Amino acid sequence: MRVCVVGSGGREHALASTLGRHHDVVVTPGNPGIPGSVDTDPLEIDSDLFVIGPEAPLVDGLADQLRAMGHLVFGPGADGARLEGSKAWMKQLLVDAGVPTAGHGSFTAVEPALEFLNSMGDLFVIKTDGLAAGKGVLVTEDRDEAGDAVRDYLSGLAFGAAGQQVVIEEGLTGPELSLLAVTDGRQVVPLAPAQDFKRIGDGDSGPNTGGMGAYSPVAHLVDDLLVADLMAHSVEPTLAELQRRGIDYRGVLYAGLMLTPSGPKMLEYNCRFGDPETQVVLPRYAGDLGELLAQAAGGDLRTQPSFVDESAVTVVCASENYPAAARTGDVIEGLDAASALDAVTVFCAGVDLDGEGRLVTAGGRVLAVTALGSTVAAARARAYEAADLISWPGLVRRSDIAAAADGAD
Ligand code: AMP
Ligand code: GLY
Repeated sequence: MRVCVVGSGGREHALASTLGRHHDVVVTPGNPGIPGSVDTDPLEIDSDLFVIGPEAPLVDGLADQLRAMGHLVFGPGADGARLEGSKAWMKQLLVDAGVPTAGHGSFTAVEPALEFLNSMGDLFVIKTDGLAAGKGVLVTEDRDEAGDAVRDYLSGLAFGAAGQQVVIEEGLTGPELSLLAVTDGRQVVPLAPAQDFKRIGDGDSGPNTGGMGAYSPVAHLVDDLLVADLMAHSVEPTLAELQRRGIDYRGVLYAGLMLTPSGPKMLEYNCRFGDPETQVVLPRYAGDLGELLAQAAGGDLRTQPSFVDESAVTVVCASENYPAAARTGDVIEGLDAASALDAVTVFCAGVDLDGEGRLVTAGGRVLAVTALGSTVAAARARAYEAADLISWPGLVRRSDIAAAADGAD
């Protein structure tokens, strides 16, 4: 099969490399670190299957456009992508579906939002309604800071139109889990659970980012029984509610969950593969990923995904200042040496070529360094051994990815 992956980050690199085990893959626009990258509009590419990586083109209806041209597409249409495109819409859908989630209110005006804040407990969560690259969420114990964020978001100053509706949630506590499920609109099957690390700094300090690392499986937190329970009580009711609304959702339902003392709660849905979860989930996929995604895209999901026993850990290497406007244009050293290590793959995200043909930094998250190992501890040691070989001025990475799982498996 010829498969076209749409997108340009580490997730798309991981998709292309896993799909490439069995199929011919092109990636558009890709990047200079992803083999098979072509600078062609996806609407002009002829392919047996399209796999759309990022949320923005899904929210903008690229899957609808490609389907209207008769193509087989993995990824929801604009109607289903609202799950990620509007947190207010998503929260209402969860409430309607009876899925356990944090209590919330949605607001477009400052005064009622501040009143709601005043009625809440002592951990406040303020979210932009629209897309903000994982950065539109503030979690704080400081009511004044929460109030300031509400004003900034609603004024349009902080996130433009994406912030002009805010969702305020009760703050929950507990470990987080990413459960990605593949659906053809009627059947839904889980992929291997993963955990990602959203904050920029060690010990979960500093601002939220798109994700600074991940590992899979998450054996000390979630077993097959819990996955079955999450599918039955959260993911399947969500899909049923989407169907009830007439939405034919074919793609990934990415459930972002928190395992709270009072049970698992849904924090969010994304309408796509997670980044960097994909960089640890897919290297463990046992089988033909193209077949699974084509079945889902065709409304005929029959495959039960399976995964190798090995664990995977990925460490994201980012540019100085990320998640604020990142420094770019620095030459990336050591990538070949890192990739040459056994069981290591370096996925390229924000990279470009300079005038001399050298790979340079070109974005916030630059590389995701993934390693496989017989345990999380072994995979973690290898991922850091590889990441230690990579350098550029101002490189930022966390040193504690998967540390808590180390030895727990
Ligand atoms: P989201 O984009 O909705 O997943 O939020 C990004 C991150 O903010 C999550 O991964 C959590 O770490 C945190 N977060 C979101 N909602 C809550 C909540 N209700 N309580 C505590 N933390 C939250
Ligand atoms: N890893 C978080 C995300 O993909 O949104």
